[in-house]
Amino acid sequence: MDLARLERIYDAYAKIYDRLFGRVFDGPRKAAVQWLDARPGERVLEVGVGTGIALPMYGPDPFVVGVDFSLGMLREAQTCISAHGVTNACILRMDAMRMAFPDSCFDALMAAYVVTAVPDCRQLMAEMVRVCKPGGRIVIVSHLHHRNRLIAFGQRLLSPITQHLGWRTDLSLEAVLAGTPLQVTRVTTVPPLGLWYLVECRNAKPA
Ligand SMILES: C[S@@+](CC[C@H](N)C(=O)[O-])C[C@H]1O[C@@H](n2cnc3c(N)ncnc32)[C@H](O)[C@@H]1O
Repeated sequence: MDLARLERIYDAYAKIYDRLFGRVFDGPRKAAVQWLDARPGERVLEVGVGTGIALPMYGPDPFVVGVDFSLGMLREAQTCISAHGVTNACILRMDAMRMAFPDSCFDALMAAYVVTAVPDCRQLMAEMVRVCKPGGRIVIVSHLHHRNRLIAFGQRLLSPITQHLGWRTDLSLEAVLAGTPLQVTRVTTVPPLGLWYLVECRNAKPA
């Protein structure tokens, strides 16, 4: 799916996104932020920040930059920042597959429900690795291919349909990490239904 079409889909979701996908995915979002374990003074990048729903979860310590391509979602993120009095975050409109940040400028990166939403997840991962410091942390929470082959078959069948809704269901963790220098340090399934994965990686690119 191309980026313009994806933007139209997420612009259309923007006003109702939190009602549809807010509470049901909040547990894994909080767990992802906890795993990220951002310390005072660290710079965190959240790619595909959406409505900014996770921004209040980081607490006051790190400085968080959120990027998203959908202006509609970013407008909601600005409202969220104001409503929660978040003072340590800023949001920018940017294609996460071609980010305007220098190499190795973030200590930690978070991507919640994004790797399956971008047009090219390999390009996204390459960019995340590029802007993350060597040894930095990358935490991903996403719907990925299940280990159970029957469920994985169903996910593959559904993917052409869900792509019209703004995400795919046929990606495996192996495909997401292929060709990257990322080392998985922790992985677990998360609710609802244990069909989503929470993955913590260390960026093992050379210094
Ligand atoms: C399913 S939403 C996830 C939003 C949020 N992270 C959350 O926890 O709910 C996917 C988000 O990724 C954004 N997105 C998709 N492709 C993108 C890209 N190439 N660059 C920036 N944002 C992108 C969409 O606009 C949307 O806001």
